[in-house]
Amino acid sequence: MLKVVILAAGKSTRMKSDRPKVLHAIAGLPMLRWVVEAARALSPDEIIVIVGHGAEGVRKEFASDKLTFVTQEPQLGTGHAVLQARAALAGAEQVAVLCGDVPLLTSHTLQRLAECHRDARAAATVLTTVLEKPAGYGRILRDERGSVKAIVEQKDLKPGQERISEINSGTYLFKGPELVARLDRLTNANAQKEYYLTDVVHLLAQDGQSVAAWCCEDSREVLGINTRRELAACDKIARWRVVEQLMAGGVTVLDPENAYIEAGVKVGRDTTIYPYTAIHAGVQIGERCEIGPYAHLRSGTVVGNDCKVGAFVETKNAKIGDESKAGHLAYLGDVTLGKDVNIGAGTIVANYDGKKKHKTEIGDEAFIGCGTVLVAPVKVGKRGQTGANTVVPKNKDVPDDTIVVGAPARVLKRKA
Ligand code: UD1
Ligand code: CA
Repeated sequence: MLKVVILAAGKSTRMKSDRPKVLHAIAGLPMLRWVVEAARALSPDEIIVIVGHGAEGVRKEFASDKLTFVTQEPQLGTGHAVLQARAALAGAEQVAVLCGDVPLLTSHTLQRLAECHRDARAAATVLTTVLEKPAGYGRILRDERGSVKAIVEQKDLKPGQERISEINSGTYLFKGPELVARLDRLTNANAQKEYYLTDVVHLLAQDGQSVAAWCCEDSREVLGINTRRELAACDKIARWRVVEQLMAGGVTVLDPENAYIEAGVKVGRDTTIYPYTAIHAGVQIGERCEIGPYAHLRSGTVVGNDCKVGAFVETKNAKIGDESKAGHLAYLGDVTLGKDVNIGAGTIVANYDGKKKHKTEIGDEAFIGCGTVLVAPVKVGKRGQTGANTVVPKNKDVPDDTIVVGAPARVLKRKA
């Protein structure tokens, strides 16, 4: 039986935030969500999340994720955090410990770590990496034979040890009973007066137990987030991964460095995404579309095939039918567009009356003239048309095959 413990109770002083650190977004998803998803790759029997600082918010965000929450109060260190889960860990043969603030760890690396742990039959296996600038991280101490004998925190380094470039990622696999038996023996006799989980490694080595290490080649995977600067750096790496995946699936992304595409966005083949376009988590885009430059596709947007969402077009909860086009300067909120709709420059769907959001429907082949304001709730029928600067008031639906003009709009003529 394998259980995962994710540490997420810490205060995140250096973020200078009122929000719990693990809820800060990486490519549009809370940091902790990335860790939870990676952990699932180990097919654990249970995922236990240690919460403390901002615990309510974290529990709420993950309420439907089948996680076990354990509260750590006060927060006396990473070892003390795992100790809080002792009852939940009873009977677990293997325990993986992950940090909630190390979101770029891939399931692939976690699986490698698990294989290494199993093959070495180790009591503990630490995920490490080699960094050019190891400052801030715990350093790996090895004996003459290369076995891990301890992890020393930055603030407890002895002269000369700061040069050690192999660091602790904060990710481990333990034999459950070996871990639990040593948690009680931890002390806080160190520079930070904390109960360090890393000292379990030292205790195990002292007891003659074997401690293995799996060195992660891509050190970017184990970057920990302690500051807003590190948050930005990890966010960039995560967004790059999202773009890479889209490109692998046949999407052209011009200037990937300047694409702001969140995790979980789906885009069809041969769609081109132009620079400075923001696409939020959950948005779906079909094939052969042109998106951007400078487009903003917010949550609930579903774009069909052969569509265009051009410069300075913002969409939210917008269903856009095949072959429909909004070329420039428009706001499309809470709206359904049929097939082959043309949205003129400057069109605004006024979905919000100050109290409530309302829906707008625009039928197949409708042609919305430049500068039109559609005051929701309202419908434009099939092949309906509005002249430039038309204001269509709420509930004054435009019938099929009808052109309306004016502000507010009046019927000019019937087309058929
Ligand atoms: C920790 C490791 C360090 C490693 C680094 C990798 C220890 C003592 N040090 O240092 O060796 O190089 O991670 O990123 O483990 N947390 C709790 N309760 C607490 C304290 C922390 O849940 O009482 C959580 C934090 O929310 C965080 C994680 O544990 O998610 C790591 O804690 P943090 O204080 O960031 O440890 P580091 O100093 O980064
Ligand atoms: Ca950290």
